[in-house]
Amino acid sequence: MKVLIFKSPEDATEAVAASLIGQVLDKPDASLGFATGGTAEPVYDLMVSAFEKGKVSFRKVRAFNLDEYIGLTPDHPMSYRCYMRRHLFDRTDFQPENTHIPKGDAQDPAVEAVRYEEEIDRSGGIDCQLLGIGENGHIGFNEPTSSLSSRTRVKTLARGTVEANSRFFDRIEDVPRLCITMGIATILGSRKCLLLATGKRKAGAVAKMIEGPLAAICPASALQMHSNAVICLDEAAAGELNLRAYYLDVHPDGKVAAL
Ligand code: F6R
Repeated sequence: MKVLIFKSPEDATEAVAASLIGQVLDKPDASLGFATGGTAEPVYDLMVSAFEKGKVSFRKVRAFNLDEYIGLTPDHPMSYRCYMRRHLFDRTDFQPENTHIPKGDAQDPAVEAVRYEEEIDRSGGIDCQLLGIGENGHIGFNEPTSSLSSRTRVKTLARGTVEANSRFFDRIEDVPRLCITMGIATILGSRKCLLLATGKRKAGAVAKMIEGPLAAICPASALQMHSNAVICLDEAAAGELNLRAYYLDVHPDGKVAAL
């Protein structure tokens, strides 16, 4: 695990966006895995800005999102398909046929989950998966006690996740309880995992992910098993790390030759 601690959330976010853009410059048809949520939004803004300045094109990039709510149609404003269109796809030259997100309105979500996993496989796998982390240690919507060898499947959201995500909905009752999410083994199958966490609220989960035991109670701890996992943090999210001084010794201010 490469643990990079940046002075500010902006610096951490910029490093993550630069890494994703770098992947595309190196390999224009890269396969990128995307996350939704508040932490990812400024990353997408920076990708849009690079596109607008003519620094990068996403025309050939293949996109695979981590998860989708069950019961929302793709055009529902709170669906993750809509989120991705609003924040990234419709503001750049991503080709719609290259953007993949589980279908939350599929007749049989369990069958849809298997189809999605196969789609990722058939495409040759994900080059770089962007991740956020929940306050309970979830990645994607793999809630605590998710099997560390899970594949894409239907999951029930934890109460805390429903509460956290209710800020995006009018009423908490409107937040779907079920989702389709890539599994932990699916995520670990990506050639690179890039996790961004900012803010004090994430500090406890971040410490468990990096320094806690490998355990299903903290799904993000599975990243300890990945040979190319890069964790980008701001000072606040790094606040509960015991070995903080060591990480800063190795990569002062999050600096590293290439992410
Ligand atoms: C959603 C996803 C989640 C979020 C996590 C953090 O696609 O992957 O794991 O990354 O819940 O969400 P924010 O950034 O809103 O705190």
